[in-house]
Amino acid sequence: MIGSDLVYAKKQLELALTVGIPTETVYGLAGNALNDMAVLSIFKIKNRPFFDPLIVHVSDIESAKKVTKHLPEKAEKLAKAFWPGPLTLLLPKNNSISNLVTSGSDYVAVRVPNHPMTLELLKMIDFPLAAPSANPFGYISPTRAEHVEHQLGSSVSYILDGGFSNIGVESTIVDCNGPRVKILRLGGLSIESIESVLGESVELAVTTGSDPQAPGQLDKHYSPESAFLLTGEIEREMMLHKGKRISALVFGEVKIPEDVFSLNLSPSGNLDEAALNLFHYMRLLDKLNSDLIIAMKVPNIGLGLAINDRLSRASSKFVRR
Ligand code: TXA
Ligand code: MG
Repeated sequence: MIGSDLVYAKKQLELALTVGIPTETVYGLAGNALNDMAVLSIFKIKNRPFFDPLIVHVSDIESAKKVTKHLPEKAEKLAKAFWPGPLTLLLPKNNSISNLVTSGSDYVAVRVPNHPMTLELLKMIDFPLAAPSANPFGYISPTRAEHVEHQLGSSVSYILDGGFSNIGVESTIVDCNGPRVKILRLGGLSIESIESVLGESVELAVTTGSDPQAPGQLDKHYSPESAFLLTGEIEREMMLHKGKRISALVFGEVKIPEDVFSLNLSPSGNLDEAALNLFHYMRLLDKLNSDLIIAMKVPNIGLGLAINDRLSRASSKFVRR
């Protein structure tokens, strides 16, 4: 059931049930982070492997401190600059957070989402919310309440409808626990913004591969059902696949043959707009059942890095025949 009743959502969460919540990045599948039964049902509903830890959502820095041992200085600087917002900080966890949430790690990922409805909900309850993106494991993340309803509707108690997510890609995950600040996942907060607040360069430690040691960063992720190919040479790929029923995901000024159905992430070449449209357009193209979706790489600056990261994981199951 979709709605905007915060009191009802609160009741469901207090009963250790799960609720779909809007955030500025993507929709989350939320449950009481301090209740293992609630956390277990999140894993079950998503069909998510237990080696893939969950992000804990809180209403402000003070509540973040309640689940952590301490806040490193640089983490606090970033939190002050970007919370609420698309920044997740990896912090040393205290005993309130179980190993189930962190997949056995001593560090917990924490963020303050920037969505009025979810922020209000977080203030109404007296526990933090564990919330992964509200999609079945491995599929495209949801940026609208309907996406959640469509895929998880029958197994979620309630879905809070907060409109479309206005950033559109997941939060950037940052580790400030070592001597050098590391970016663990590219996301809705650009590296440029992080570096300008810290006044130093950061290390890109985004992992790829099918190694479970790299939670949530599996090669194959964000995958549509249809074959999906990412390319820097869209015209050439169109020629190579001539004769197939092709659809295309493009960016900026580009000429696509008339017989190819295409969606443009941002005709004016704006990467923020492209991020906002990304998952919704991937879902629309996936519904066409074409033989192949060909996606175009976007420039590797600002949110372009996160967009290319998602597109390349989506395309990793493509096998050239
Ligand atoms: O924008 C977002 O971050 C969204 C919204 C709902 O807040 N959430 C989200 O969660 O993207 P999810 O579960 O799809 O991705 C969480 C990822 C994990 O797969 C893992 O890569 C990383 O966050 N993560 C979480 N806890 C971690 C931990 N303790 N150590 C290392 N990585 C962690
Ligand atoms: Mg996810």
